[in-house]
This record gives sequence, C-alpha cells and structure tokens, in this order.
Amino acid sequence: MGNKYSVSEFINNIYAFVMTKITMSGARFVRRPIYIRGKESLCGCKNLTTGRFCRFDLQGKKKTLHIGDNCEMGDMTHIVAHNHVEIGDDVLIASKCFISDTNHGKYDGEEQDSFETKPNDRRLISGKVKIGNRVWIGENAIILSGADIGDGCIIGANSVVTKKIPEGSMLVGSNRIIKHWDSNTNKWERVQ
Ligand SMILES: CC(C)(COP(=O)(O)OP(=O)(O)OC[C@H]1O[C@@H](n2cnc3c(N)ncnc32)[C@H](O)[C@@H]1OP(=O)(O)O)[C@@H](O)C(=O)NCCC(=O)NCCS
Repeated sequence: MGNKYSVSEFINNIYAFVMTKITMSGARFVRRPIYIRGKESLCGCKNLTTGRFCRFDLQGKKKTLHIGDNCEMGDMTHIVAHNHVEIGDDVLIASKCFISDTNHGKYDGEEQDSFETKPNDRRLISGKVKIGNRVWIGENAIILSGADIGDGCIIGANSVVTKKIPEGSMLVGSNRIIKHWDSNTNKWERVQ
C-alpha cells in the first residue's frame, strides 16, 4: 500500500481541491474541514497549503491576517487575528499550533482586569504578531501577542513565543534562544 491514499481520502482530497479553487483561488490546497470566521479580514495566501481542522478567527474592518506566499500549515492550526497577524513567505507551521494577537483582559500597566470579572466579559485586548520569512514552527507551538519572529528562525515543538526574536535564531521552551545561525561557520551554534 505504501503511502497511497485510501478511496475515501482520495475523494475528500478531490472535494477539498475543488473547494480550494472555488473559495480561495490563489491557494494551493486547503484541506477540509476548515473554519474561517471573518474571511474578509484574510489576505495573501498565494500557494497556501493547510491540513485538516484549521481554524482562523478574524475580526476587524481591515485585513488582520496576512499569510505570505508558499506557506504550509499542518492539521488543527488555530489563528486568532483581531488586529494584526503577519506571516511571511515560505513559512512551515506544524500541526496544533496556536497563533493569537488577542487576550481576554489586560494584566499589566494601568486599568487591569479584575479576577472577579468573568473572563468572557473582559475587554478583548489585541496586539501584533509578526512571523518572518522561512520560519519553521514545530508542533504545538504557541505564538502570542508581542511575538516578532525574525527570518529563518526555528521554533521548537511546544514552545511559547511572546517577544522579538532575532533572525536566524533557534528557540525552545518559553522564549529561550538556544542556537543561532552563524554564517561564518555555516552551522547552528549554541548560545551560551
Ligand atoms: C528545536 C529543534 C529543531 C532542535 O533540534 P536540535 O538542534 O537537534 O536540538 P538539540 O538536540 O541540539 O537540543 C538542544 C537543547 O535544546 C533542548 N530542546 C530541543 N528541542 C526542544 C523543545 N522542543 N523543547 C524544549 N527543549 C528542547 C534539548 O533538550 C537540548 O537541551 P540541553 O542542551 O539542556 O541538553 C527540535 O528539538 C524540535 O523541537 N523540532 C520540532 C519537531 C516538530 O515539531 N516537527 C513537526 C514536523 S513539521
């Protein structure tokens, strides 16, 4: 059997391919099911490939989610973009990643939200997320408001990113840079 598709998978793929061309003509292959709320806020997506069960929660009158050229994302990627999420070109996102520019409430600075307020009644506070070109994001990674990931970065499986990360960095855990690309040695060198 090798890696051949089963009959039902083959039929599903044909359906998904036809729907891609009807509903997102610039994309390469958007697998089904996919849930997009606020599609008018989505732009880019040229040659986009997605896995199954991806979910984009978009809001706002302007374009809040830009996906660059030739991006690929695995199953169950969830993106929340109420203000500004920008994904560069040639980005590879593994399955079950969560990318969000929005929080329920404010927990630093002035006018913070109280623990007594129901989370769903708190103000929605949106910032920005930027993911550069050729970034590879490992499985289950979480990219939150404030993340600004430079070109060519590698984000390890299960990482959490909330900060500016210089280009060519390898990050694991919570914003922890462990290696960077050294163009003198042409290797990923450990950061002490
Ligand atoms: C980030 C990653 C690329 C690093 O690979 P690597 O350079 O070979 O890493 P190393 O084995 O040299 O590990 C370096 C250190 O980082 C730690 N580390 C590596 N990946 C980690 C991760 N995801 N979370 C936490 N720590 C991690 C290692 O334990 C090691 O720690 P130590 O120095 O204390 O011993 C890889 O571990 C990873 O997470 N890949 C994602 C895989 C994936 O999601 N694939 C989906 C298919 S698209």
